[in-house]
Amino acid sequence: MIDLRSDTVTKPTPAMRKAMAEAEVGDDVWGDDPTVHRLQELAAAVVGKEAAIFVPSGTMGNLSAVLAHCHERGSEVIVGDESHIFQYEADGVSVLGGVGMHTVPTADNGELPLAALNKAVRADDQHCPRTSLVCIENTHNRCGGCVLSLEYMQSLKTWADDLGLPIHLDGARVFNAAVALGVDVKAITGLVTSVQFCLSKGLGAPVGSIVAGPKPFIHRVHRLRKMLGGGMRQVGVLAAPGLLSLTDMTKRLQQDHDNAWVLAKGLAACPHIDIRTDLVHTNIVCFDLRKSAPLSAKDFILVLQQRDVYVIPFRGGIRAVTHYDVTSKQCQKALEVILAVLNEPSQHIKLPGKCAMGNGTPLVGPEAPTVNGY
Ligand SMILES: Cc1ncc(COP(=O)(O)O)c(C=O)c1O
Repeated sequence: MIDLRSDTVTKPTPAMRKAMAEAEVGDDVWGDDPTVHRLQELAAAVVGKEAAIFVPSGTMGNLSAVLAHCHERGSEVIVGDESHIFQYEADGVSVLGGVGMHTVPTADNGELPLAALNKAVRADDQHCPRTSLVCIENTHNRCGGCVLSLEYMQSLKTWADDLGLPIHLDGARVFNAAVALGVDVKAITGLVTSVQFCLSKGLGAPVGSIVAGPKPFIHRVHRLRKMLGGGMRQVGVLAAPGLLSLTDMTKRLQQDHDNAWVLAKGLAACPHIDIRTDLVHTNIVCFDLRKSAPLSAKDFILVLQQRDVYVIPFRGGIRAVTHYDVTSKQCQKALEVILAVLNEPSQHIKLPGKCAMGNGTPLVGPEAPTVNGY
């Protein structure tokens, strides 16, 4: 099986499993877990922030970060309409935090144009919610893993500083962004107030994210993490692989980008495929099938599954993500399978009755989960 559904499917490396087995642990709710402390200290240093905290997921990281910034009632956060926070986090900031989301249109390259942001900022008026935060995403998942330029991020920071607004970065894949830009990750995180990044995606850890930012902010996130049920006990067993994510796995992301680029270039050469190769910057490859293709995107995904290549439906098209658990050879193989299917006359393609993910859940069709963002 060549699993290109997401980089979340990576399994812990042998070194991670060993580190988990040998981790020194304590009760982290009491602040006793030395491995968690090491992870948090290293994470803060790596992204150049005063403090960091380990949380169970990217979703909890973003939620607790937004609530920590928007701690006055009546707050509103500005988010992109294609952002993960708006699209895929169950409206947690509104449901659980009473924070309104003000969406602005996301440009194809993941940017939130300053003109749109200007319009979204509320007047200091009794009728209005209080604009308290801007959130951005880098790399941008629904924009095909593209990277926000440092120039754009600098202009956003200048704009936000003028208004006294903090910026939270959903940096689930911020190390992919740093590798693509050829910079230390601090060049990116230095332009925002706080960041959430995932250890459990391209960095290969089985669980967990980090929220980093100023000390008083992390103090508030700590309380919110407890409130949300994210205070964990002997969690050094999960922090231990996270340490390896930061020390080792960040160094190999270029390989995933190279694999994605080979895939994207190969797909672009197929007349039945529509792909914006200018937006393939990292490990995500999004594409559509043209009308000339011998089958629909939905059937295409099913046929690929039958041939052991797993991709997902995404924004009306298809998404493939490269990661630690797919080799260059497997990516090449996946490309060959994709091109072979699209080059077959439609009457030769046998549609499978039913195809399922590893756990038996149908990938497309009426019973398929709608979580197609991953
Ligand atoms: C951009 C982005 N932010 C946040 C998340 C949420 O992370 P988690 O699945 O750990 O909650 C994801 C997950 O895919 C993501 O792609």
